[in-house]
Amino acid sequence: MVIARMADIVKRYGTHLVLDNVSIEMGKGEIVGLLGPNGAGKTTLLFALTGLIGVDSGEIELFGRPLGDNTLETKRRIGFVTQEVSVFQDLTARENLEFFGGIYGLRGPGLKQRVQHALEIVGLAKYANRLPAKFSGGMSRRLNIACALVHAPEFLIMDEPTVGVDPQSRRHILETVRELNRQGTTVLYTTHYMEEVQAIASRVIILDQGHVIAEGTISDLVEQIRHEERIRLEVVDVTEPLLQNLRKLEGVKGVVVEDRIVRITTQVGFGNLDRVLAAASEAGGVLSINAERPTLEDVFLTLTGKQLRDGGEE
Ligand SMILES: Nc1ncnc2c1ncn2[C@@H]1O[C@H](COP(=O)(O)OP(=O)(O)OP(=O)(O)O)[C@@H](O)[C@H]1O
Ligand SMILES: [Mg+2]
Repeated sequence: MVIARMADIVKRYGTHLVLDNVSIEMGKGEIVGLLGPNGAGKTTLLFALTGLIGVDSGEIELFGRPLGDNTLETKRRIGFVTQEVSVFQDLTARENLEFFGGIYGLRGPGLKQRVQHALEIVGLAKYANRLPAKFSGGMSRRLNIACALVHAPEFLIMDEPTVGVDPQSRRHILETVRELNRQGTTVLYTTHYMEEVQAIASRVIILDQGHVIAEGTISDLVEQIRHEERIRLEVVDVTEPLLQNLRKLEGVKGVVVEDRIVRITTQVGFGNLDRVLAAASEAGGVLSINAERPTLEDVFLTLTGKQLRDGGEE
């Protein structure tokens, strides 16, 4: 069963084309990771999918029905974890959940039970009567997630739910997603973090500048770049002559610098390690050099020429 479908979606803000013919589909029971750098259009896609914003053209269906036909009943089947924490600071955690549950039509003992369950899922039962103003970043995020879960949605949409959280909360959030999925919830999970996608997603959609540039399982995507090699070079000092030397080598497709580490993407079969070492040594001190196995991060780098976390919020 198809839970959500977007076909040929175009969305402009003024003259800025934010979604350019985007088509995606989600089947029941999937966890799909939606990856993309800042400004790729991820949040816009999620807003369009749920009807929070209109689109210029294209078709959207939820649970097999056109978006325009959506009743309150359809909306109750969706939970949306927003990128910005959107809870009431002057209501306790429990009161927040009661409020959001109430919006979705829960009442009385049913509401109470769901609120308690949501608190437990995100590990905030002990803090139910506290104000979110006193919460850590991670706890606030978990409450934000609980607010989107309280009505037991079939389809959970999460917009960067782990930005700025401590490792313990992150683990908890990922485990929550897995557990909900085991119980049948379909999840669309947006993130900058490759490891999260690798840990939980059954399928990945990569969005860049409003385009879906790749889609598939992680192994499908890594397979696509098997013709790439990655070399990690550690140097005493990253200098312009060094970078110039590397960039002009035959077969080099990308050079990315992170402190004293230079990551080089090349075509296979050029005797790359030797040539890169020679070119680098000519420009200065090389501390180490080694070849790396491609990861999803490399897929992204190859397809877009930039790192996923460029300008990220870490
Ligand atoms: N309401 C708006 N008006 C005008 N431009 C907008 C609006 N919302 C988003 N944009 C622009 O659309 C583009 C995509 O934004 P969007 O928030 O969807 O990106 P994103 O992938 O979610 O990024 P991030 O990782 O930073 O959350 C950006 O260039 C942004 O500036
Ligand atoms: Mg966003």
